Amino acid sequence: MTVQPAFDPEWYRKAVFYEVMVRSFKDSNGDGFGDFRGLIEKLDYLQWLGIDAVWLPPFFPSPLLDGGYDVADYTGINPLYGSMSDFDEFLEGAHSRGMRVVIDLVINHTSSAHDWFQQSRSDPAGPFGDFYVWSDTNDKFDNVRIIFTDTETSNWAWDDVRQQFYWHRFFSHQPDLNFENPGVHEAVFDIARFWLAKGVDGFRLDAIPYLYVSEGNSGESEPETHAFIQALRAMIDREFPGRMLVAEANQQPREVLEYLGTVETPECNMAFNFPVMPYIFYALKSADVTGLAATLNDLPAVPDGSAWGVFLRNHDELTLEMVNDSEREQMYDWYAPEPRMKVNVGIRRRLAPLLDGRRDKLELANALLLSLPGSPFLYYGDEIGMGDNIWLDDRDASRTPMQWSAGEAGGFSQGSIDSLYLPVVSSPEYSSDVVNVESQMTNPSSILNWTRDMLSLRKSLFALQTGTYRGLTTGSSSVLAFVREPEGPGNPIVCAFNFSESPITVSIPGVAPANSVLDDVRLVNSGIEVNEDGLLEVELPPMSWHWLRVS
Ligand code: BGC
Repeated sequence: MTVQPAFDPEWYRKAVFYEVMVRSFKDSNGDGFGDFRGLIEKLDYLQWLGIDAVWLPPFFPSPLLDGGYDVADYTGINPLYGSMSDFDEFLEGAHSRGMRVVIDLVINHTSSAHDWFQQSRSDPAGPFGDFYVWSDTNDKFDNVRIIFTDTETSNWAWDDVRQQFYWHRFFSHQPDLNFENPGVHEAVFDIARFWLAKGVDGFRLDAIPYLYVSEGNSGESEPETHAFIQALRAMIDREFPGRMLVAEANQQPREVLEYLGTVETPECNMAFNFPVMPYIFYALKSADVTGLAATLNDLPAVPDGSAWGVFLRNHDELTLEMVNDSEREQMYDWYAPEPRMKVNVGIRRRLAPLLDGRRDKLELANALLLSLPGSPFLYYGDEIGMGDNIWLDDRDASRTPMQWSAGEAGGFSQGSIDSLYLPVVSSPEYSSDVVNVESQMTNPSSILNWTRDMLSLRKSLFALQTGTYRGLTTGSSSVLAFVREPEGPGNPIVCAFNFSESPITVSIPGVAPANSVLDDVRLVNSGIEVNEDGLLEVELPPMSWHWLRVS
């Protein structure tokens, strides 16, 4: 095991996470695929940027028919990405720079190429015969929705070898594991122990609501699923204290809350906040923060020691499952004018193109992300405003090579252009000649340096890390304002965001006593006084925001 970072059981509540797919970051050997040695070369960059934890989606042996979420061997390294000793060195390198590493634990399903499945289909009476959900008919559990609506028409697929149907919530090449079988629990625990013993700091629990399915139910969040997560968490707390679990449950916050468990029976330490994300994009186009404010005001309190994970984009589509039908149609009109931009129930584009490449909107969205209750998860490349390529299949549109410098391969690889796992973005506005790390590092006013400054500023403001959230009344449907109040020492921070294209002045009650002065934390010697009536009058230019310190 590598030297672990200083023990801090709640490190994830203060961390800024950075998601990067290994194959997308840096190719060290010219074969066209990013790899662990490339990632090691770029650890200094992540440290310079101010990242606290790296989240790596699956890097295991896989047919790569679902970006690696089709796992063929849970305790190996995909040879395209390097060797186990490269992984160890990467982990060591991250830890020695004070950064933690979270990896994906994909346990709802395996790849059909996994040896367990191959044995299960050919030897029903053998040790893996009952590892998957088999049936003679394909009409069981017909209440359960289909997730990949663009590619799948049923959650059952026929297997010619076993002459039975098997259950799958995602692609048909991803058979679901059978959690009714205690052998599956043991196998999952062994995988978790393997990586924890190596020293990883936590797991993202992929597609976690779907582990159990029973007749008449929706196949989501069944009580046995929660019992399993409680057992996993108990094992981790007992054997590897200080490591964490983050739940990927694309559901409403009240339901997601169950994945955090209770103080007595904890489940995950964190859970992604899915609904707040689309409402940020809704507000950015409509200049109306009503839905966003309501979502934030209705957020249930999380149990002590746990936290939300917040994000703008990730390796998946910008999912629209959490907005209502008319909001979804409206968002498709705004953000997916070309049918190719849609996938399943969402939009397969990156942050910068979604925001029309507008710097003011990028700053507003990121400043909000860094102000929300919970820990922010950034997606690689968004810190330089990378573009996408909607001519690529499925979610690959926003998984193209990281753009390090100018030139056809964007500094990602020394290999031939034809060998790249995906082409570098080449559109005129977003090509590597225009958008790259090297040029932005030397430009003090780049979005990259802005992001870095913001991460460093946030680190100094305890209230923004673990503080409570209280929504404020602004009197304007275009302005979102709230106050984050620190748990311990530190000052409350008032955050205000104008989503409209016009300047607005708002009067906010209930922030601080009359005549007290709030400082703008971005500007030296700039204060705003609360007036005689106890109102804080904030002037906000179009698409702008403030962080104000209450002393
Ligand atoms: C991952 C997806 C993946 C799916 C199936 C998820 O929720 O984020 O990228 O396709 O699980 O594993």
